[in-house]
Amino acid sequence: MARDTLTIIDNRTGRQYELPIEHGAVRATDLLQIRTAPDEPGIVSYDPAFMNTASCKSRITYIDGERGILLYRGYPIEELAEKSTFLETAYLIIKGELPNAEHLALWTHNITMHTIVHENIKNFMDGFRYDAHPMGMLVATVGALSTFYPDAKRIHDPESRRIQTHRLIAKMPTLAAFSYRHSIGMPYAYPDNDLSYAGNFLNMMFKMTELKYKPNPVIERALDVLFILHADHEQNCSANAMRSIGSSQVDPYSALAGACAALYGPLHGGANEAVLRMLQEIGSKGNIPAFIEKVKRGEGRLMGFGHRVYKNFDPRGKVIKRLADEVFEVTGKNPLIDIALELERIAREDEYFQKRKLYPNVDFYSGIIYQAMGLPVDMFPVLFAIPRTAGWIAQWLEMVQDEEQRIARPRQVYLGPQRRDYVPIDRRPEQR
Ligand code: CMC
Repeated sequence: MARDTLTIIDNRTGRQYELPIEHGAVRATDLLQIRTAPDEPGIVSYDPAFMNTASCKSRITYIDGERGILLYRGYPIEELAEKSTFLETAYLIIKGELPNAEHLALWTHNITMHTIVHENIKNFMDGFRYDAHPMGMLVATVGALSTFYPDAKRIHDPESRRIQTHRLIAKMPTLAAFSYRHSIGMPYAYPDNDLSYAGNFLNMMFKMTELKYKPNPVIERALDVLFILHADHEQNCSANAMRSIGSSQVDPYSALAGACAALYGPLHGGANEAVLRMLQEIGSKGNIPAFIEKVKRGEGRLMGFGHRVYKNFDPRGKVIKRLADEVFEVTGKNPLIDIALELERIAREDEYFQKRKLYPNVDFYSGIIYQAMGLPVDMFPVLFAIPRTAGWIAQWLEMVQDEEQRIARPRQVYLGPQRRDYVPIDRRPEQR
């Protein structure tokens, strides 16, 4: 009978090792026993960018990249996008099960009651230059929250973790909207706790002089669906940052600031902004072939295409494409959609993209909807960070309670010089 083990023969010594395979994984630390002599270091696994290394066991999100499947706690993303709300999905991701009506009401209440931020946050924001990027401001202010809530340091206290969870989910939209208002020189609009999570965010973004802001229900629902689609995505760059920083046992605000910073990059959550700028630069359908040729020559990437895990299609992209039609009915069509559709068509027929299994990801179409909804391009990564906060917290909570986890500390393959003596400056060779 086949055994769940892996047999390794070290051809340097002729020795044979049998490593257990559990859940399709071998433990990298089991490789340490493979050594040429007792005082030699054992073998390490070398895996830059974690191409094939599981850093944790998780029960939150499942992705099958070949078949384009994304499940939160077992529920397909398409069903959640159709039937759930963002706050319910956040509950599911964080707590593991869908809430009953009573728990959902309590969860919604607890989050809504924490939407206001300390007045000093406004002063803090005022320190930024008038044209500061809202995502840079978000990274800084969410980190600054740790100074307002020193109790968050008690990461082993479940009650403290519960309160920080409510605070973070509640305050991210407030910080995000404040950063936008600052960047356009508008007075901050305070949260309106009568509104839904997405509706209140729209209120804080767009409220002018009216006494009560009334969000358009189609836009409000579309934003809520976009939040559901972005809520978690297992061990991506920012989730890994959240876990890695959190593994030092720092408070969750500091860890989340790091996760936000990771999200900001154009290869991750900054891609939606980059897609929009790319489509604007292309300008018309006629310019697409020349642009594609440039990408194929290695001069830049087709932003919003490709994914480390999805090699067929990104299920979130499919939902977004459908959502776009509903939004355009209210807002009018964003002319960039025609360029995007044509760009996708040409790229998908091109051998370069086919061979490398490059397909549109979530960011390819999300920016086009955001823009149609009147949300400014600078805010796109921020719009990703708001819902992803639920995922980051879920990943952090799982990590903090996982007895196998310790401070994240990878090994390296050292290729630098061996020990050598210090050379006085007047005896050093000339450097060019
Ligand atoms: N345009 C052109 N070529 C690409 C692209 C692209 N968007 N993405 C990958 N390639 C090529 C890459 O040049 C390489 O070619 P070769 O084998 O000839 O060197 C091959 O495809 C494999 O690429 P990789 O960089 O090794 O793949 P990766 O898994 O490390 O990167 C990625 C994944 C998402 C960073 C990458 O596909 C990319 O840069 N895409 C554009 C940015 C983007 O849309 N990011 C959003 C990702 S989804 C949401 C999120 O995670 O935030």
